[in-house]
Amino acid sequence: MMTDTSTRTRVLTGITTTGTPHLGNYVGAIRPTVQASRSSTTQGFYFLADYHALIKCDEPARIQRSTLEIAASWIAAGLDPERVMFYRQSDIPEIPELSWFLTCVTGKGLLNRAHAYKASVDKNNAAGNDPDADVSAGLFMYPVLMGADILMFKAHKVPVGRDQIQHIEMARDMASSFNHLYGEHLVLPEAVIEESVALLPGLDGRKMSKSYDNTIPLFSSSSQLKKLISGIVTDSRAPGEAKDTDGSALFQIYQAFASAEETATLAKAYADGIGWGDAKQMLFERIDRELAPMRAQYEELINNPGKVDAILLKGAAKARELATPFIQELRHAVGLRALASYNRSGTQDTAKTARAAAPSFKQYREKDGQFYFKLVDGQGRVLLQSSGFASPKDAGQAIGQLQQNPETALANLNQHVALGDGVIDSELSTALAALQAELLEKAKSKG
Ligand code: TRP
Repeated sequence: MMTDTSTRTRVLTGITTTGTPHLGNYVGAIRPTVQASRSSTTQGFYFLADYHALIKCDEPARIQRSTLEIAASWIAAGLDPERVMFYRQSDIPEIPELSWFLTCVTGKGLLNRAHAYKASVDKNNAAGNDPDADVSAGLFMYPVLMGADILMFKAHKVPVGRDQIQHIEMARDMASSFNHLYGEHLVLPEAVIEESVALLPGLDGRKMSKSYDNTIPLFSSSSQLKKLISGIVTDSRAPGEAKDTDGSALFQIYQAFASAEETATLAKAYADGIGWGDAKQMLFERIDRELAPMRAQYEELINNPGKVDAILLKGAAKARELATPFIQELRHAVGLRALASYNRSGTQDTAKTARAAAPSFKQYREKDGQFYFKLVDGQGRVLLQSSGFASPKDAGQAIGQLQQNPETALANLNQHVALGDGVIDSELSTALAALQAELLEKAKSKG
């Protein structure tokens, strides 16, 4: 089946290949994503982010094992590789190439502000170490590689956890800078946050997470699953005593798998004093019922990794039908071109024409004797309006800050500037990113 990628909304997300999928991943990501991938109005792109895995993991065997386990889990959980794009990041050489193009249009200051990088720096500072101690350039560049993943396939929507929203905003910034310099090639993506997905508690009642070592692997044997479930913490109430569903990890996990009626039945059993052993047996049976049919396919794939390779390579070939011509277009746009196509007449490229409509700052003095500025777009619409400054120098400095470091400047100038009528945040940030890119370009042509 040839999918029509041109009209449907493209939804893209990546999974870093460093661990073994657990029930929390299943409930929070795999199950809802597989469900969503069946929609006929969207085109799904799901990939194994193994280049990203290298940033936090230097154990080759673990990367390989995790890639196999994650791929097998998604397929066993119902992802249909014929219907969606399912591939391994490292099978798409166009991605690192695009990552470089984006590197060259991304302000270093933007990356300095990435939460993950900043957290490492803060930790070092707190410990009295060099700010960049143990920070690899890979960690620093993480958002750019992620931007390349997203922009490569012109994704519209990117479902991610809250911690990743900033990365999507950065991808938007990179796309606007690139488009501003080279013409409209890249699509600006949007983050999608799934509010309704339950956070699954782990064995100890805290959020199920590899870092707490409290996970239940998605695919283990039935007997292993039973054993792990028997280890879920409960209070010490005896059989016959009524039990609280509130704050019961066991109850919450059950709820994530059960229908509303089944959940009501367990709630009633809690009130009637069900013993913890019996409640755990109910939980085990409910989860096992959902997983057993998938387990067989998982085992089959894990035991035949060549089959998984074949599926992923087929997926990569399909993805590259889009990526290869697109990177050609981008190579041309930035000037990596056949020399014979050189345009001697010296007429300018389209991006320059597009620039006629670029936003700009206007500075002026009002009758009140104070100094003001506004940011207007190519059509003269006011995007940002300042209040009065005492001197032209103050106003000029504020403009300078907005050009160099839009995000910080906006936070600092909070009292001094207001959005124009009907202007939304993203219009302002796109305009500021465009100006920042322009500065960067000027700096380059001087250098
Ligand atoms: N950074 C994401 C995470 O840790 C994984 C990822 C890599 C990703 N590239 C992506 C997610 C592109 C969405 C889109 O969860």
